[in-house]
Amino acid sequence: MADSYTPLGSGTSPSTAGKTPLLQLRGITKAYGAVQALSDVSLEVYAGEVIGLVGDNGAGKSTLIKAIAGVGPPDSGEFFVEGQAVKITSPQISTRLGIETVYQDLALCDNLDVVANLFLGKEERTPMRTINELTMEKRTLQVLKTLEVKIPSVRTLVASLSGGQRQSIAVAKTVLRNAKVVLLDEPTAALGVVQTRQVLNLIRRLREQGLAVIVISHNLADVFEVVDRVIVLRLGKLVNAFDIKSTTSEQIVAAITGAEFGSIMKDTNAPSEGI
Ligand SMILES: Nc1ncnc2c1ncn2[C@@H]1O[C@H](COP(=O)(O)OP(=O)(O)O)[C@@H](O)[C@H]1O
Ligand SMILES: [Mg+2]
Repeated sequence: MADSYTPLGSGTSPSTAGKTPLLQLRGITKAYGAVQALSDVSLEVYAGEVIGLVGDNGAGKSTLIKAIAGVGPPDSGEFFVEGQAVKITSPQISTRLGIETVYQDLALCDNLDVVANLFLGKEERTPMRTINELTMEKRTLQVLKTLEVKIPSVRTLVASLSGGQRQSIAVAKTVLRNAKVVLLDEPTAALGVVQTRQVLNLIRRLREQGLAVIVISHNLADVFEVVDRVIVLRLGKLVNAFDIKSTTSEQIVAAITGAEFGSIMKDTNAPSEGI
């Protein structure tokens, strides 16, 4: 049974019908002590598809990303990559399966330039085992061009880049590592309007390259601009999967909050935290 793959119905858009997902989760469950952070979460993401993962604070979004990234393996549930059952028990295994994660802290080295950051720990070597700066620089230029990322120079120190550029470098790093699935945790949370635009554009480029992208976002405007499907978590459960083309923000907010339709409006002015 663990080796067989059954497509799930919910939220699968017609364009993906009959295809095998790049990544599928089935029945993912995880508790932290008495807190049930994830209960029986099943979803799939296809090549060339962007999924928005939304939900209130504590809904389980980060726990889900950490499970896929191998940082916090689930208590139970199954993963399939391109239809094959896999066990993701460490970040190294996740990476080997072509899954790369960009966390909010980005994990870039401010004191190094763009090329050094992109190749950190995986530097290209010449036959003499010295670092091959030229090859790395060429690859960097190539990847940034493909992704339409604009920076002053690939030799710029990351410290002097804008927030949007830094986010773009962190994403470019995943592409350079041959990611098939990219997980982004709130990529636009700390960005202004122009930089947000750059990052949304970058996500579109990832889709064009045939990658599968799962992006956590609090910003429904961003979600509507860039995702194909929205998955809503509430209290650790997947409550809804929407095709973005046939969904309104009211429906998504209702799913996030658990509000009935019609009672949403009176909730929109309520503070989201600290109640
Ligand atoms: N390391 C942890 N230890 C204990 N509880 C945790 C831990 N990480 C998350 N949780 C709990 O699990 C639930 C889901 O958290 P999280 O995945 O961070 O939600 P989100 O990212 O959607 O805000 C919350 O109730 C949170 O308090
Ligand atoms: Mg979180």
